[in-house]
Amino acid sequence: MSNNLPNYLTISSVINADLNTSISAINADKIAILVDDNTKKYCLPKLKTSWDLVIEIKSGEKEKTLTSCEHIWSELTNAGFTRKSLLINLGGGVIGDMGGFAAATFKRGMAFINIPTTLLSQVDASIGGKLGVDFQGLKNHIGLFQEPNSVIIYPEFLKTLPERELKSGFAEIVKHTLIRDKIQWEYLLEKSFDSLDWKEIIPKSIALKNEIVSQDPREKGLRKILNYGHTIGHAIETHFLDTSSHLLHGEAIVLGMILENKLGVEAGILDENSAKEIEKYLEGIYTLPDALPTLEHLKAHLVQDKKNDGVGIRFSLIDKIGSCTYDVLIENEILKKVLK
Ligand SMILES: NC(=O)c1ccc[n+]([C@@H]2O[C@H](COP(=O)([O-])OP(=O)(O)OC[C@H]3O[C@@H](n4cnc5c(N)ncnc54)[C@H](O)[C@@H]3O)[C@@H](O)[C@H]2O)c1
Ligand SMILES: [Zn+2]
Repeated sequence: MSNNLPNYLTISSVINADLNTSISAINADKIAILVDDNTKKYCLPKLKTSWDLVIEIKSGEKEKTLTSCEHIWSELTNAGFTRKSLLINLGGGVIGDMGGFAAATFKRGMAFINIPTTLLSQVDASIGGKLGVDFQGLKNHIGLFQEPNSVIIYPEFLKTLPERELKSGFAEIVKHTLIRDKIQWEYLLEKSFDSLDWKEIIPKSIALKNEIVSQDPREKGLRKILNYGHTIGHAIETHFLDTSSHLLHGEAIVLGMILENKLGVEAGILDENSAKEIEKYLEGIYTLPDALPTLEHLKAHLVQDKKNDGVGIRFSLIDKIGSCTYDVLIENEILKKVLK
């Protein structure tokens, strides 16, 4: 077992026993469980606890809204839930972020347990206490920081996850590795994607993220390295939201990492061989879109650096494999050259 896991987190091979332990520690007057279409079908039947209330929302990022929160708060209220009650969030990052936010604000805060069921939520969304919903088209615009009472990670749930979703979550594992762990990178290079053992990889990736967020919980400095691949990645993700072709978060981040590495090379921060090694590895796993948005389209979604009168944009960039810097100002000239 990797050390440096958050103290609220359990990697479980016996989900019902571990869930019972977490529930007993809370001593709640009532228990509700929040699910989406898919986790209701694939994950809920595996849990043997009896609930006072099952709250269901449709699956997908589109549902990560205050309107869905109102639905959750109404159901809790109608069923007589109090501040001493418990909400269990069973699902991916959408359910975890939104259910956590709804619980943390219900009557100024009820207990909640997150059971992440996608690879992305197991290695990323459920660590670091960021909760929230999208608002007026802006991602995670309304939210707060708060750690769940517990997080239970049961890798068995991944068996029903579509391959594309699995690969999307894997992008965050690659990110954690590239910013922090050269040895793990060498290990990944030697293995084929299909032969990866999630029970082994997940705790390692969580430990990497936890080591970073525990040093900088409020993202004042170091935590920004977790944004590697995400500045351009988010712009690409947002662009594809407006088009018919659909890109998953991790797929956009893969493109973001490849392109941000090119910025690093151009700015003299990263050596070209490392950038090429990473690109080759990622292209071996992901089917990426041929047509990328133009610089003009991307720029609309990239936020100019206000402190520098629009001379450029600040990035978190790797300076070698296993090491990342943040707040690096990349000038518009370099952006134009790489993203043309
Ligand atoms: N809080 C954080 O620090 C943080 C970090 C990264 C991402 N996020 C958030 O996470 C969200 C994305 O998370 P996600 O990728 O898990 O998306 P998601 O919650 O939409 O899940 C992806 C899809 O998988 C389905 N699904 C979930 N578990 C399943 C299972 N075991 N079997 C079959 N299908 C299953 C879901 O119904 C959904 O259709 C975004 O909203 C993002 O903002 C938050
Ligand atoms: Zn991400």
